Amino acid sequence: MSPSRTRPLRAAVLGLGRVGLVTAASLAAAGHRVFALDRRAERLAQVARGRLPWREPGLDELLRTTLDAGTLALRADLEPISAELDLLAICVETPLGADDRLDVRPLCAALAEVGRLLSRRPRTAAPLLLVLRSTVPPGATETRLLPGLVEASGRAPGEGFELALNPEFLREGSALADHRAPARIVIGERRPGASGRLLGIYEGAAAPVFEVGYREAETIKLVDNAFHALKVAFANEIGRLAFGLGLLPARLAELFLADGKLNLSAAYLRPGAPYGGPCLPKDLRALLATARACALELPVLRAVEASNRLHLAFLVERIAALVPPPGPLFLLGLAFKEGVEDVRGSPQLELLAQLAARDYAIEVFDPDLEPEDALAVERGLPAGARLHGRGAVEAALAGARLVILAKRPPDLLRRLPPGLPIVDLLRLDLPDPRERSPRTTRGAA
Ligand SMILES: NC(=O)c1ccc[n+]([C@@H]2O[C@H](COP(=O)([O-])OP(=O)(O)OC[C@H]3O[C@@H](n4cnc5c(N)ncnc54)[C@H](O)[C@@H]3O)[C@@H](O)[C@H]2O)c1
Repeated sequence: MSPSRTRPLRAAVLGLGRVGLVTAASLAAAGHRVFALDRRAERLAQVARGRLPWREPGLDELLRTTLDAGTLALRADLEPISAELDLLAICVETPLGADDRLDVRPLCAALAEVGRLLSRRPRTAAPLLLVLRSTVPPGATETRLLPGLVEASGRAPGEGFELALNPEFLREGSALADHRAPARIVIGERRPGASGRLLGIYEGAAAPVFEVGYREAETIKLVDNAFHALKVAFANEIGRLAFGLGLLPARLAELFLADGKLNLSAAYLRPGAPYGGPCLPKDLRALLATARACALELPVLRAVEASNRLHLAFLVERIAALVPPPGPLFLLGLAFKEGVEDVRGSPQLELLAQLAARDYAIEVFDPDLEPEDALAVERGLPAGARLHGRGAVEAALAGARLVILAKRPPDLLRRLPPGLPIVDLLRLDLPDPRERSPRTTRGAA
């Protein structure tokens, strides 16, 4: 990080755990004037003595250097410095509550204190940017934190203060290195650009910057860690399977990891249709049967089929919420994926069955299906679903009240009537593909 403005920022950091200390020391090392505060006198004393209760490579030294240089200073009270601050980073704890939700009470308390100070800040003072670095549960900023701040300060955001989220993705043990070289920087804002890219504190960082809404910034932090947990559980289930089969788990893992095309990549990681086809369902079942034969429990992998079924049910509900039976609906793409004609194990077959059971009429077209195969395929369709050849597509489409997209032939996409609702199995939940523009992601400045 390097200061982007002509004058260094005056910043304060509230809460001196790993996240707060790394934030404070890094801002100070970048040349900003930083005050570090904690409500526990013991923590302030530990930082002053250079004796943290945990080891974090490089942090002791960076704290010592910045404290000695005077760019970092410890304070017990926010009030005397609050009037002169540009930025206040809040890094207090959000532990797991008894109900498995993140407990935001420490954050609420900190923001109530900040709100009271804000209420006394002269209206002519430069706006204060409040940055939440703590992990915040999805929705809490909009429903609890910002309203609490508005109540305590008597001011609306934009009137002397702005609130942004900047979740931290550091790992204990490599906190400083992770903070210095993030894979991406996420900034959650009330409206795009409201925080001035956190006043430019990340200017010069090599990582891409994503300016998103509060809820997206809150959620991505949990999603990342949930995925990491899932990876560990998956790797261990495969490790147990390897043991059961008399294989070396580490060797099998290396083989798995050697595939950077489908295994370690973005492949299969975008929400859309359930998985299907002639291979994935069959081979997953075969793997689970192999595990059972080895008397092994693999609950993560066993849950995959149920999750896939639930996803299909979710899609049916989405369609029903948009257009009631009998539709008619138009399904574009019957094969199990784009570019193929193979309908074996296609999730669209099950989707058709469930929609037909709800009395929908469904017109079906697949651009890759050869006319000579169509008859056999049509015999496998439920009553209520009709397969069309290329010549009859226009007429079928004209009467449809909703389109389910499982393939995207550009010529047909262009001819989709404007305003016709679309359920896109290839990119779930994104806006209408007719109006889709690239997501706003700006790279590092
Ligand atoms: N530790 C990690 O590896 C890590 C990584 C990424 C994100 N996070 C998240 O960041 C947040 C902070 O994590 P941490 O591990 O640094 O926390 P921590 O519990 O180690 O430290 C929080 C500090 O905040 C202080 N504090 C609480 N309320 C305060 C107030 N009103 N004023 C001043 N100080 C106050 C506490 O005394 C404590 O020292 C959490 O939400 C955590 O989930 C942690």
